[in-house]
Order: sequence, then C-alpha cells, then structure tokens
Amino acid sequence: MDSLASASAEPEASIEYFDSIVGRGVRLRIGERSYIDCASGTFNLSLGYSNRQVIDALHAQLERASHLSSEFTRAKSEQVFRLLKPFLPEHIGAFWFRDITGSTANECAIRIAQKATGRTDVVSLFLSHHGQSAAATALSGNAFRQRSFSLPFAGSVKIPAPDCANCFYRQSPDSCGMLCARRLDDFVEFASSGRVAALLIEPVLGNGGNLVPPAGYYGVLREVCDRHGILVIADEVQTGFGRTGTFFASTGIAADLRPDIITFAKGAGGIGIPAAGVVMRPELDVLEPWEHSSTSGANPLSLVAMEETVRHIRDHGVLEGVTRTSAVVEAGLRALEDRFSCVRNARGVGLMRAFDLPTPQDVARFITVARDEGLILRGSRYGFGTAVKVRPPLIVTEDEAHEIVDRLTSALIRFEKDEDPR
Ligand SMILES: Cc1ncc(COP(=O)(O)O)c(C=O)c1O
Repeated sequence: MDSLASASAEPEASIEYFDSIVGRGVRLRIGERSYIDCASGTFNLSLGYSNRQVIDALHAQLERASHLSSEFTRAKSEQVFRLLKPFLPEHIGAFWFRDITGSTANECAIRIAQKATGRTDVVSLFLSHHGQSAAATALSGNAFRQRSFSLPFAGSVKIPAPDCANCFYRQSPDSCGMLCARRLDDFVEFASSGRVAALLIEPVLGNGGNLVPPAGYYGVLREVCDRHGILVIADEVQTGFGRTGTFFASTGIAADLRPDIITFAKGAGGIGIPAAGVVMRPELDVLEPWEHSSTSGANPLSLVAMEETVRHIRDHGVLEGVTRTSAVVEAGLRALEDRFSCVRNARGVGLMRAFDLPTPQDVARFITVARDEGLILRGSRYGFGTAVKVRPPLIVTEDEAHEIVDRLTSALIRFEKDEDPR
C-alpha cells in the first residue's frame, strides 16, 4: 500500500487534484483538461457521471432517510424487481436484493445453488473474474490475485475458457466441435467431487480479455449442465443493464445459456451508486433472510438508484442507442485493425469492446498516449494482458462515438511513432 508520504508526493494524489475532478455525461474534467471516459469509471457508469433523473431521486431519498434496515425496504425491492421483470428471461421469477457488490452477489448465488441442490462444487472458467471476496477470488480463473493468500474454495473446478484466439485445445472454431464446452463432462467425472452444484460463468469474459464465446457455445454448455443437473449462474456484473445491447446478455447473445440464476452489479447503480442483485427461478428462492445479507444490503439509496436506472434505460431508448453507437465503435475498431499493424483481434459486443496490442508494455504505453489525447482507457492484468478495452457509458452519442474513434486513431499514430508523453 502507498504510504501517506509517498502518496502525497504524487501531484495526482493531492486533495486539490481530487477536488478538481468533475464528471458530466461521458466526460471527466480534471483541472483544465477534459477526457472521454472509455472505462465508464470502474465499468459501472452505465448512465455516465451525471444523470439528472438518478441524482434527483437520490436527493429526494436522502431527505427522507439515507439508510433503512431491510425490514423497511422490502416493498421497494419488490417494486424494483417488478420493473426489471420484463427485461429478464421469462423463467426468472424471484429475487434477492441484499448486496451492493458483485462479489457478494456471486457468493449469494452460490449459496442458493448449494442449498437448492444439496451439492458443493462450483465450476468456473480459466480467465474468469467473479470478484475479490475470498470465495469469489478463489473461483476466479487467474493466479495473480490469489498468489499471496490462502483462499481455498473446496470443490472449485476450473475449465478452459472459450478463448478462440488462444485455444487451450489448439483447435480452430470451425472444426473444434466446441471442446471447451463439451469436455465439461470430463471435468465433472474426473476433476470434481461428483457433486457439482453450479456452473458460474460470465456471458462475455470481461476482465479476462473481453472474450465473446463462439456461436453455439452457450447452448452446448447448457446441454451438458442439464445432463448433470448442474445449475447455471450467469455472472452479469459486467454484461447486465444494457452493456451488450440487450438489458441482459441472457436475453440476447447468451440466451441459449438459459441461466437458472443471474447476478448483476456495476451498471445497476446508473451513476456509480453501489447496487447489486441476484435473480432466479422461483423454485430457487430458498434462502432464509439470515443466510445472506449485509449492513448495506437493500439500502434505500441503492434501491432508488437501481429503480431510476431501469426506468431511464426503459424510457430513454438507451438500448437502441447502444445498438447505434456500438456500430460506430465496432466499425471504427475494424478500421484501426486494417490501418495499424499493431492492432489485432478487434472484438466485442454492444459497448463492451476491445482490441489487442502486441505486449502488456505496449498496452501501458498506449494508454498513456491515449490519455494525452483525451481518452481514459484501461487494459487488463488478466490473461495475456494485451487487451485495450473500449467501453464508454451507454449514453454515449453517435458524435461522441466518432470522437472516440478519432482520438484512438490520433493516439495510435503517435504510439506507432514511439511517442511517450511522460
Ligand atoms: C464479471 C464480474 N463479476 C464480479 C465482479 C465483482 O464485482 P465487485 O467489484 O462489485 O465486487 C466483477 C468486478 O470487476 C466482475 O467484473
């Protein structure tokens, strides 16, 4: 951890710097400079920095009561679930809104799956990220966050991810027969305790490199899970609330997954208000109130933020906007791939996009150059570390989407000339 002395030595760490930061829409103004935030904050600003509808509703709630125990917020939770219901797969009919982080929402889903099935094990994927609580870290498919700790999750089984550019089985998508999904059979038989409760999966592997599985993947996985009586938990912490162009990936690109349980967080709070939730088949509504909750679970500010976020997405054509603007970003990234030899593997869905640069060092340098061009971008320590993620808030306009592509182009020209603004 930074010591106070070393932290204050950095100009960026000063209170004046912090106080100078103002977010408006998709832009962040820091001192005299303005940036388009293509990281959507911590990938949680679905509606950008300053959505008036959410802010006004929060102010009104703050005036009434900033906190209420879940005893008093049940009706609000039900109202939010009713608002969400039309955007969920039809078979989802129950909810558990006692979380404000994706990590604990995933832990809640695991508890539900274990209690409902009477089984223990959880299958997850290489390259996955499910959060940073002890269980969520243990189930995530990367060593770097576990290395310094002992975080065992008895019954964790990891299977190769559908990462076609780096196929674990050294196959190609046209002839692989979807081995990465089919071989789940073998993992259940030879790598688990034989008592697998659930498969936990991100419909698009976000931190692992923005990996979109090939067509047919979700259906094969579902079929194998059905054969073994394994529940499917879709971790929609990144993909939920409109990010992939449908409200949930589970009603769009990942519909064939037919998840039994869906978790969400991040974008659910609209402007970054911590909010999370678990929704499920009605027969999986098995938890007692004391079996999964926390001090801030079901707090009124989170519920109000979630309510207004759903309303705003529904009433302001946000999903249709994502369809339009994602087409601009997609075409722009493909053009960059054609023009710059260092840009590879442009990929993604909706406003969840990425491309690769040759090395993690290139990614770090490019992000610095792009910052100088007025773009906030993030890479990923996960996987191969070569992804540059392009994920603006869902309210980005077509003009702003073009501006993003123009700034990426300028940054790549400078990057190829080997410029480093530091
Ligand atoms: C797919 C996914 N699941 C779970 C989490 C954990 O969410 P939180 O950081 O709110 O605990 C994250 C966070 O990055 C995530 O990307």
